[in-house]
Parts: sequence; structure tokens; C-alpha cells
Amino acid sequence: ENSLRALADEAGIKVGVAVNTDLLAGNGKYRNIVNTQFSSVTAENVMKWETLEPAQRVYNWAPAEALIANAEANGQVVRGHTLVWHNQLPTWLTSGNFSPAELRSLLENHVKTVAAHFAGRIQQWDVVNEIFNDDGTFRQTIFSQAYAALGLSAEQYIGDVFRWAHEADPSALLFYNDYNLEFTGPKSNAAYAFVQKLLAAGVPIQGVGFQGHLDTQYGFPDLQNNLQRFADLGLQVALTEVDIRTFVTQKNNGTYTDTPADPAEGAQQVDWWAGTLEACLAVEACTSYTVWGVSDANSWIPGFFTGQGAGLLFDMHNNPKPQCDALREVL
Ligand code: XIL
Repeated sequence: ENSLRALADEAGIKVGVAVNTDLLAGNGKYRNIVNTQFSSVTAENVMKWETLEPAQRVYNWAPAEALIANAEANGQVVRGHTLVWHNQLPTWLTSGNFSPAELRSLLENHVKTVAAHFAGRIQQWDVVNEIFNDDGTFRQTIFSQAYAALGLSAEQYIGDVFRWAHEADPSALLFYNDYNLEFTGPKSNAAYAFVQKLLAAGVPIQGVGFQGHLDTQYGFPDLQNNLQRFADLGLQVALTEVDIRTFVTQKNNGTYTDTPADPAEGAQQVDWWAGTLEACLAVEACTSYTVWGVSDANSWIPGFFTGQGAGLLFDMHNNPKPQCDALREVL
């Protein structure tokens, strides 16, 4: 057997995919790829706050439950994504005019309720997502601002969240997850310094997730070194959301194809996939490598990056691209 997951098993790592639960239920070809090619799954959306608690104290667990049940039936582990993020928050929360103390207490309730609900069934939780800006400053969100108004620091805020998650689910590995950590720069340096402060304060953080949303326009010259320096702090590291986008040709009706506009960049995409996985395999503490979606037909990329796409392993028809073979060869 030479499925990605069988080869990853031999290499001693999990190979994961972000799953759209509607497609998992409704599209047999999609479901077959998820279940046969991957040994880890992440909820692309259904474990985010707006989906889990669409109205205050009204919980919607069913889509996430269905994903976990499917994973357990197929021998897959689950990455929880994500307890605290500034996006995809429910409107009742963002427009509720809560006081700083109320926001802190809503945050505590959310983290504990969700982590406790799924306790024992999550291998790694993205406890906090995207907490730094690209310039290395700490991102301002309704939660960071509430803590600041209460006279509490960024370390106290993030420390609280990790302690609550650990209390509610002691067996999950707790991660800080972010993008643009792949290369050395103001953001990865700030994250590196911050994580050391958390560790020194005894905060229960066990890992750092590198999202890995890459673009053929920019390089990632020292991914392995960056994984390694966080690993050297005694942490697990993971690639959590890999996709490698490029400019694609458009149809007359304005929709995107999955054909790279520049064939040279198409070839580069394939090499880059191999390079990201090689970097993970070269670092002992990197035991989880997740791609952000199955096919170019359901990737978030065209909706968020104008003119770009073709970022995943399977094409518009859920057929494997050369990117798949590139990963198999590395494994
Ligand atoms: C994206 C999903 O793929 C989209 O379906 C959704 O509309 C927006 O969020 N970083 C993250 C992910 O941590 O949660 C994001 O997922 C992509 C960027």
C-alpha cells in the first residue's frame, strides 16, 4: 500500500487534512480520499466559536461530532481548531457590548466548555490562533483589549487560555498556531520570545503550529531552522495548514481554474510541497503535517487571494496532482 497515510505511518508521522464536513457527508469521492489518504483530520470550520455557539448558550456540536466519529471509525487522530481566534466569532459576542470582565468570563467559559466537551478525543488543540501581527507586535483583539483594560498582560491572557484548556482536557497537546512563522523575521522572532516567556511562567503549552500557507511569489528559506529552534525549547512542532498557491488562469465568467498561469511556477509548487515535508521530517519533534483542504475545488484560497489558487494536492475533480506524488516520494 502506498497511500500517503501508509507511507506516513512508516515514517512515524501523521499526515492530516482540513475537512469540510458537508463534503465529507455528501461527496463519496471526497470522503474516500479523506479516509484512505490521511491519518489526522482538522475541522476546517466546525470547531470555530461561531459554529459551536451560534447563539449564546446554544451549542451546535453535531457537525464536529460527525467529523470525530468518522475519524474514530477510520483510525484517524483529530486536531482541534481552534479555541481562541479573532475571526469567525459569533455576532452575539462581537456586538454584545460586554464589559472587559464579562469578556474574560465568556472566554473562560468557552475554552473550558469546548475543551471539556471533546476531552480525550483531540490529539492536538490549536488553543490560540494567529496572536501576532507580521511586524511582531501582539495582535489587538476583543480579548487582548479586555485583558489590557483589566490591567493584565498578553502573557496573562494567553496563559489563562492554556491553563483553562489544560484543566478541561489534560490529555490534549496544546498548541499556539500562526502563519508566517515559516521564515525568520519579526513575527517568528516575537513568537519565539513569547513562547519562552510562557514556558518560563509554567504555562502548559506543548506545541507550536506553523500554518504553512505558502505562495510561489515568496520563499521559505529556513523553515527547517525555524521548526528546529522551537523544538529546541522542548516543544512539539507541526505543519498545520499547508497549501501552496500561485496565480491561475481565469475562465471568461471570472471563475478560477486549477491551472497555474505560469508553468514554471506550477513546477515550483511541486518542489515546494516536497520541501515543506522534508523540513518536517528533518525535525524529530515535527510529527504532524496537515494540508488545508482536499481539492482545488473547495480550497479557501480563491476566495481570499484574488487571482490565486491551485494550492492543494487534488484537482477540481478530486484527482491527484503531481503534488501528491512529490509527497509520496519524500515519505
Ligand atoms: C479558513 C477556512 O478554510 C474557510 O473555509 C473560512 O471561510 C475561513 O477560514 N488560517 C486558519 C484557518 O487558521 O482557520 C482559516 O480557514 C485559513 C487561515
